Amino acid sequence: MERKHIAINYDSYASKAELSDEDQNLIDRAQEILEKAYAIYSGFHVGAALLLESGEIITGNNQENIAYPSSLCAERVALYFCKAHHPDAVVKKIAIMAKSNKGELLEVISPCGACRQVMSEYERNQEKPMKVLLKGEGESIIVFDSVRDLLPFSFNTKVLGA
Ligand code: THU
Repeated sequence: MERKHIAINYDSYASKAELSDEDQNLIDRAQEILEKAYAIYSGFHVGAALLLESGEIITGNNQENIAYPSSLCAERVALYFCKAHHPDAVVKKIAIMAKSNKGELLEVISPCGACRQVMSEYERNQEKPMKVLLKGEGESIIVFDSVRDLLPFSFNTKVLGA
């Protein structure tokens, strides 16, 4: 037996001002769209903004439903819309931002497992890293260079034909 070890690197920023203009703008777009989330059950508003290689920005927010499992996270609303309209788009970056009406969310939001899985498959398909920027209501922001860092050992198999 040999115990293995993996390390994950990410960049931690004290505030948005430390980011490039492009990243600041993407965070602003995520913040803008979270205000329009349909989150009447959880009170947890999430916005996602995708920067495509073409320069286009696509946004989405969480959409809830009284039949709770029918709800969809902001990340997947944005990514599925993007892939529906631009199947060959390369997503360079995704900014994810959250706000709760049940108290101030000071820490960054961490995307759920299902969204990581979806992000991971699109990243793999495009053969280019998708940078992930995470922010809550506090000042701090963390940035991962790739979805791979957020979902090591992701499910993907050639056996299923993908
Ligand atoms: N949610 C997202 O939109 N993205 C995440 O990464 C985590 C959770 C949504 C789903 C639900 O509408 C609400 O936040 C509370 O879980």
